[in-house]
Amino acid sequence: MVGGVRVEFEELAKRFDLRVVFRGVSGRAEPGSVLVITGPNGSGKSTLMTILCGLVRPTRGTIRYLRAGGGEVPRHAWREHLGIVAPAMGLYGELDAMENLRFFSTVRGLGFDEERCRALLREVGLDPDRTTPVAGFSTGMHQRLKIAQAVLHEPEVLFLDEPGSNLDPAGQDWLEGLVERQREGGTTVILATNDRREMEWGTEHVALPG
Ligand SMILES: Nc1ncnc2c1ncn2[C@@H]1O[C@H](COP(=O)(O)OP(=O)(O)OP(=O)(O)O)[C@@H](O)[C@H]1O
Ligand SMILES: [Mg+2]
Repeated sequence: MVGGVRVEFEELAKRFDLRVVFRGVSGRAEPGSVLVITGPNGSGKSTLMTILCGLVRPTRGTIRYLRAGGGEVPRHAWREHLGIVAPAMGLYGELDAMENLRFFSTVRGLGFDEERCRALLREVGLDPDRTTPVAGFSTGMHQRLKIAQAVLHEPEVLFLDEPGSNLDPAGQDWLEGLVERQREGGTTVILATNDRREMEWGTEHVALPG
C-alpha cells in the first residue's frame, strides 16, 4: 500500500422524503486510525456508511478521499480503494467460500490468486477445501467470509458495519487482531458499532444523536 487514503466529510445530512435521519455530521478518518461511528438504532450509522463509501448520495454535505501523498481520489474511483462489511451485503449462496472469493476477485479486476484466497480463508477460520455452498454456512461463518471478501484486495479504506455480529468470543478476538493489523498497516478503518468492546478500538469517534 502506498501512502493511504484519508476520508473527510463535512456537514453531511440525509433525508428520506421528509424524514431527517441526521444533519450536520462532520469528521475525518486518517490512514492508520479507526473512526468509530456510534448512535442508537435507527440513528443512521449504516446510512452514513453507505454515503461515505459512495453508494448513496447525501442530501447535503461533502465527502473527499484524499491521498496521503496529495491529490483527491475522484468519486467514480472510490470503490477501487475500499472494502465493505455490512449486514445488507450479500454473498452468493450457491457458491462455496473459495468460489465466492474467486467471484469477488474477478469483478474487482484482480485476477484470481488462489494461494492468497486459501491463506485468507484460513486466516478467517474457514477451510479452503470445504465445498459446502455458502447457503449452508452458519451466520458466524457467513460473517467471516464477508470479512475475507472485504480485505481481499487490500483496500486503503475499510468500512466495517457491525463486523462482530454473530462472531463467537474467539471470532471477536480474531476480529480485534485483524482491525489492529489493518490499522498498523496504514489502512483507514471506519467502524459502525454499538458494541462496547468494538467502540474501544476507535482512535476517533463520531456519535449520531438519533
Ligand atoms: N432506503 C431507505 N429509505 C427510507 N428510509 C431509510 C432507507 N434507509 C434507511 N432508512 C431509514 O433511515 C434511518 C436510519 O437507518 P440506519 O439503518 O442507517 O440506522 P442504524 O443507525 O444503522 O441502525 P441500527 O443500529 O439498527 O443498525 C431509519 O429510520 C431507516 O428506516
Ligand atoms: Mg445499522
